[in-house]
Amino acid sequence: MSDTTVLVLVGSLRADSLNRKIAEALRDQAPAGVTVEIAENLEQLPFYNEDLDAGDVPAAAAALRDQVSRADRVLAVTPEYNGTMPAVLNNAIDWLSRPYGVGAIKGKPFGVVGATPTPYGGKWAHADTARSAGIAGAVVVEDVTVSQSALEVDVLSDPEVLARLRAAVQTLVDYTEVEAA
Ligand SMILES: Cc1cc2nc3c(=O)[nH]c(=O)nc-3n(C[C@H](O)[C@H](O)[C@H](O)COP(=O)(O)O)c2cc1C
Repeated sequence: MSDTTVLVLVGSLRADSLNRKIAEALRDQAPAGVTVEIAENLEQLPFYNEDLDAGDVPAAAAALRDQVSRADRVLAVTPEYNGTMPAVLNNAIDWLSRPYGVGAIKGKPFGVVGATPTPYGGKWAHADTARSAGIAGAVVVEDVTVSQSALEVDVLSDPEVLARLRAAVQTLVDYTEVEAA
């Protein structure tokens, strides 16, 4: 059987981003039978505009839609900006939500994890991301969510934290529609 592909949308563009490093760790330590791919170049997506989404769509948007269409699962790994998801992630979800009713994200099992240096670990961003992806047509797997505080733990080296994040990927991979019934 072919691998299950999990496409990751990273909500931070920062070169030294903790959330990007989490995504890379999940990619590098993916469970057997799972390929974790990180969607690159989200910063090249123009702000969503219906005028741009007619005829030939921008190359970055077409590439992302294609990548998501080919993926079996979608995972957002994101910090929180001002109590919600960063604009780069919101914009990516907007592009994936259209054409209305048949966007690339429609029907994809979707989860969200991330870390912030606050006690809350980005939980508002994660709740908003899940809500937005669900409205966009994704099948949100709530059990996946990990909102990890990076205040008192080294997220990238703590075995318990890494195990929790890897378990989140496994939960997303293991999700089946039957469970939702
Ligand atoms: C514009 C901006 C807004 C932020 N707002 C929040 C916030 O509302 N909640 C929070 O937990 N952290 C907030 N932070 C802190 C980020 O969580 C922190 O910078 C985090 O490390 C960014 O993730 P990254 O390392 O993946 O880039 C904010 C940071 C920025 C730059």
